[in-house]
Amino acid sequence: MKFFVDTADVKEIRELNDIGLLDGVTTNPSLIMKAGRDITEVTKEICGIVDGPVSAEVTALDFDGMMKEAEVLAKIADNICIKVPLTFDGLKACKALTTEGRKVNVTLCFSANQALLAAKAGATFISPFIGRIDDIGINGMELIGEIRTIYDNYGFQTEILAASIRTVNHVKEAALIGADVATVPPATLKALVKHPLTDKGLEGFLADWAKTGQKIV
Ligand code: G3P
Repeated sequence: MKFFVDTADVKEIRELNDIGLLDGVTTNPSLIMKAGRDITEVTKEICGIVDGPVSAEVTALDFDGMMKEAEVLAKIADNICIKVPLTFDGLKACKALTTEGRKVNVTLCFSANQALLAAKAGATFISPFIGRIDDIGINGMELIGEIRTIYDNYGFQTEILAASIRTVNHVKEAALIGADVATVPPATLKALVKHPLTDKGLEGFLADWAKTGQKIV
């Protein structure tokens, strides 16, 4: 499974990328707001750090507006992936942009039928929002399974990008179900390394090592 990091925080992106964890980055208007920086400037910086696709989201609601914004965003760098919302105009923009050879991430997906439409429109990535479905008392992970089955039934090449990931269990479950990518907030990505038995084991080794009185360097 590929890992994208879901943030516009350049410091976090650099740190995770330096240890080889990142296959891409996703941003959205809320994350740009959180970073407190100009969208063009911060996105350009992110594209220079990570080799993989960097999703930058349009904010227009109509097809023409989306296409104009996509043109501006695409000029930022070669690894820009245009993010469009799962609306009728978003699907039209998806089709037009992928026909031009652009990568497109169709976002705000909450149903298998929406994912089917995005694949038909040629989406590079479909972003089902797991956490936000969990928030309304429905198991968001089931949607990943449904989309996996549908895409495999018909051989769609659109990659399932599990988004709105909130927990380490979300990451594991998405991987087990067969999501192609998980976009994960930095803190959750870092939390994947943690296990109490690792900490306990390390503590034991260090206590015994101290008893030997030795030093490696
Ligand atoms: O990738 C989409 C993601 O940023 C949404 O996450 O936690 O705001 O639902 P969240």
